[in-house]
Amino acid sequence: MHRPFEPYNAGKHGIVGTFDARTTESTPTQLRWLPFPIVDDKELDFIDGLGTIGGAGDTALKSGLAVHIFTANKSMDRRAFCDSDGDLLIVPQQGRLDITTEFGMIMAAPNEIVVIQRGMRFSVALPDGPSRGYVLEVYDGHFELPDLGPIGANGLANPRDFQTPIAKYENSANAEGWSVVNKYQGDLFVARQDHSPFDVVAWHGNYAPYKYDLAKFSVIGSVSFDHVDPSVFTVLTCKSAHPGTAVADFVIFPPRYEVQMHTFRPPYFHRNCMSEFMGLIRGQYEAKQGGFLPGGASLHSMMTPHGPDAKTVATATTRELQPGRVADGTQAFMFESMFQLRLTKWALEHQQRDHDYYMAWQTIPITFNPNQL
Ligand SMILES: [Fe+2]
Repeated sequence: MHRPFEPYNAGKHGIVGTFDARTTESTPTQLRWLPFPIVDDKELDFIDGLGTIGGAGDTALKSGLAVHIFTANKSMDRRAFCDSDGDLLIVPQQGRLDITTEFGMIMAAPNEIVVIQRGMRFSVALPDGPSRGYVLEVYDGHFELPDLGPIGANGLANPRDFQTPIAKYENSANAEGWSVVNKYQGDLFVARQDHSPFDVVAWHGNYAPYKYDLAKFSVIGSVSFDHVDPSVFTVLTCKSAHPGTAVADFVIFPPRYEVQMHTFRPPYFHRNCMSEFMGLIRGQYEAKQGGFLPGGASLHSMMTPHGPDAKTVATATTRELQPGRVADGTQAFMFESMFQLRLTKWALEHQQRDHDYYMAWQTIPITFNPNQL
């Protein structure tokens, strides 16, 4: 029981449902944002603090994806959110998210991720105060474990480590003044109701939200020379109809040993047939010694060159190649997609946009010597 949905515009930061030339812009240039600030001059909960970086496709046709940032300083109070447009993969970067869902409770700390599927009502409380994070939304399909191929039965993210909530009933007696905010075709709508959306006594089946601790990822990499394709760091994938490319992969760059000999060990320079949106949960990413900070982001679009910055190149080309640890105490991640992302005006004109990002590569020396045998 609820009253009719009405437009809700309080928290819209570039949220759209169709990523076309009318609503968004495009650029192939490398983009970077310094940490997205959590404001303290007005109250923002998870819904009102949601801003859209960009995406591709059309929610109405159930094709594409969107990338969002959330910055919140207030728990959701007697209101729930539901996304009619797709499934959400939420990456908290600062502060835990105490999430009430129709299926029960999920407590997610930074370095954990949460997946909440299409249509599920949920409410986000902030037990640690202000919170920030990243959201990947897919308009079709669901996140699943990648095919392991020759890896076999075990490795990467193991099924046993995914946790689903236990049913928890919230008594609806005297529960007046609830509202449900519904993201539908890229717009937000709100409906009032006088009962808790979380008055669900039990559930069964496997269409349920879950969380996963990234520290439990069993990392695989080269133990001889060269690099394994970084797709081996895929935690979850939302497959497309084309094998080898995905609507979206959720990929992490976890702490691990690096032992490859005769190898430039940082992530190599490349162009990609997919789009790469990256975020940093904590620490320092192995390919950037400045500028890419926890709570910030970068976007390297399809076929645009990118790779380690000049300082990383200088370090990696002069160090002695002994076995060592890489990226201890850090956690970077990537939303990688076969789609070309269009960008919202909110993202392109954001005060945290780093317009000097291209400078990260300008001082890399040419070291090839054609006279060296
Ligand atoms: Fe890349």
